[in-house]
Amino acid sequence: MNFYLLRGRLFRGFWLFDCHLLLSLTQRRSPTFYLTGNKNVTNNTQSSSLSHVFTQMNVTLFDPSCKKSEGLPQSQRLGVDSVAQMDAAFLNKFPSQCTLSKSMKKMRFEIVAICGFVLGAWAIPLHADSDAIVSKPFGKTTAGEPITLYTLTNDKGMSVSLMDYGATVVNLLVSDRTGKLDDIALGFESAEPYFTKSPYFGATIGRYGNRIAKGTFQLNGEAYHIPTNNNGNSLHGGDIGFDKHMWKAETIGTTPPAIRFTRTSPDGEEGYPGSLDVAVTFTLTDKNQLRISYKATTDKPTVLNLTNHTYFNLAGAGNGTVLGQVMTIHAKAITPVDSLLIPTGKIQEVEGTPWDFRKGKAIGTDIQATGGNPIGYDHNFVLDKGATYAAQVYEPASGRLMTVTTDQPGLQFYSGNFLDGTLTGKGGKVYPQYSAFCLESQHFPDSPNHANFPSTVLKPGDVYKSTTTYSFENK
Ligand code: GLA
Repeated sequence: MNFYLLRGRLFRGFWLFDCHLLLSLTQRRSPTFYLTGNKNVTNNTQSSSLSHVFTQMNVTLFDPSCKKSEGLPQSQRLGVDSVAQMDAAFLNKFPSQCTLSKSMKKMRFEIVAICGFVLGAWAIPLHADSDAIVSKPFGKTTAGEPITLYTLTNDKGMSVSLMDYGATVVNLLVSDRTGKLDDIALGFESAEPYFTKSPYFGATIGRYGNRIAKGTFQLNGEAYHIPTNNNGNSLHGGDIGFDKHMWKAETIGTTPPAIRFTRTSPDGEEGYPGSLDVAVTFTLTDKNQLRISYKATTDKPTVLNLTNHTYFNLAGAGNGTVLGQVMTIHAKAITPVDSLLIPTGKIQEVEGTPWDFRKGKAIGTDIQATGGNPIGYDHNFVLDKGATYAAQVYEPASGRLMTVTTDQPGLQFYSGNFLDGTLTGKGGKVYPQYSAFCLESQHFPDSPNHANFPSTVLKPGDVYKSTTTYSFENK
């Protein structure tokens, strides 16, 4: 719970307390009885003891709700002979004869109305759960299916918007060190550009993240052929990968807000074997963490490598390049690639190379020395086992610090080399080269063709599970 929430709760508490006090002032209270009378002390011969017997008694009723005109105090002469008879039941025979004054009645009505209103407001939490996930229409697919944009907001005001087309991160609002929110994810204002123009902005990638050489692999002695959509190789699942499908969305919690996207990838989709049930859950925690959890099962052996392709710019999407942002990656090796970004199969130490991010350095420091066409980072880092985190990026001007943790063995660091200023994104901002970085947690690219890489085979009966968390703070 944050400070504002606590202050709000206290404020409401005081309201209710005040209401209670005011009401009790205007309430008809039980009349007060004053006893006066003649008291005789007699010798009770039967019980051989002395007892106080009232021979006659006056009972005076004082009722605070009586109007003056009703004549206070009221006095009645009662024929009672024992104190014992003055119990509650007896006194109840003498209810107040007075009525509440008109002004008292009006005040009571006003207080009840105000308190009712406040109580009603109390029933709606300050950070209403209903605000934790809101949805709105976000256009239609080319087949006319409605697309919905879901916005998850946490207690601290951080939010992530996701659409069911591609289970895609569309907006990611994170505060800087002054508390100002900025959208730090590249993307478009509507769904339509995502169909053809998007270089996987924010998308869920499957069945196989990154490249499979020549679009072929062998599994259990059988050759499979998948679309070669990238220079003769297969990239990010083929022509119509998971990023180009509608997913079924389901809210699975509001504290913290979480949404699950599911779909069944049919047997043979894009040439991959087995019918695959996939679920991707996005949770926005109160600690400003965007947690992405994947789960999948298959009915035939298949290969699988799921990831998320958010393009981050910690200075805000479209606010210059990320070359000055400081990157740390806990990896002492990478899987080097050929000119078409296909792994050679080697595991290469980063020591003394531009890929050594172990101590942290600005992304731009050694970028020219990476070579490649276009020049830049587009490599799988072999994550150190047991490290506290996989990667961290710091943007000095805003103070935003992002930490990535994952259970995956690899992390593709892509420095937005293919961005070239031809895409105009949210708010009319243009995305030039190096205006974002991606940190795609994954198994190594082209694993199905490299026996020395960790296996990406999923068998029937096994459950694929994986979690990657992007945490945000200010420094
Ligand atoms: C991945 C790849 C890059 C590039 C981008 C999308 O990060 O590794 O080479 O294809 O996706 O443009």
